[in-house]
Amino acid sequence: MLGEDRSAAELAGMIERRISGVPLEYVLGWVEFCGRRYAVDAGVFVPRRRTEYLVELAVGKQVGTAVEPPTKSQPTVVVDLCCGSGAIGAAVAAQLEAKANRPTELYATDIDPTAVLCAAKNLADVGGTVLCGDLYHAFPANLRGRVDLLVVNAPYVPSDSIRLMPPEARLYEPWVTLDGGADGLAVQRRIAADAGDWLAPGGRLFIETSEQQAPQTRQLLEQAGLMTTVEHSEDLDATVVAGRKPAGSPKETGR
Ligand SMILES: C[S@@+](CC[C@H](N)C(=O)[O-])C[C@H]1O[C@@H](n2cnc3c(N)ncnc32)[C@H](O)[C@@H]1O
Repeated sequence: MLGEDRSAAELAGMIERRISGVPLEYVLGWVEFCGRRYAVDAGVFVPRRRTEYLVELAVGKQVGTAVEPPTKSQPTVVVDLCCGSGAIGAAVAAQLEAKANRPTELYATDIDPTAVLCAAKNLADVGGTVLCGDLYHAFPANLRGRVDLLVVNAPYVPSDSIRLMPPEARLYEPWVTLDGGADGLAVQRRIAADAGDWLAPGGRLFIETSEQQAPQTRQLLEQAGLMTTVEHSEDLDATVVAGRKPAGSPKETGR
């Protein structure tokens, strides 16, 4: 807050809000994620430090992939599904561009209009399309079978466990950003079921989950025909299930 260089009165107001329990990121209006600042508006999920692991994996796998686009100018199609502030998609696009000089065709989608407005601000620098809607219903039809990289941090907290979360989350972040239904897997189940329709042959999906839920998340993706691995970072206390659509999959419809 001191680094924000505000007037004494403004600073006092910020401190008061923080003391009353308002999450620091809402007081500041931004969060640091993957080394950059992203806007976070009130009511939008605050990107967590652990989610940087998902970005790391997605960029690393994409840069290291054996299947390079036919030409340098062909963009990697990236979708940040359940994007919230859009920080994941923006960070992936920025890193693909910086590390591998790979242009991206970036989309970010969320069901909550407040999140969509926030994501539009955060995607302004990298460029991209922000859409509002229920999971894949937000996707333009021409994305079917074309998504190279689907990055997802969807709600995965079991409904009954939300009351155990820190007050900054359970009092300030809307229910729709946290609630994964009775077993925490309700949204992930729907995401897995249709992922194969939207991924390009060889396309990858990275989805954050909890360490306890990882076997079930993995099973959902396997049932949808993806090849999977479970990745875990002790340092960030982060778990991600990575899925890949087989290159010769019968659902192949894209390039
Ligand atoms: C846990 S938050 C994560 C936000 C962002 N991915 C991040 O990591 O900062 C989950 C997001 O999913 C969105 N969401 C929940 N249900 C959805 C649905 N059916 N379709 C699209 N987005 C949904 C919420 O609005 C929320 O922004």
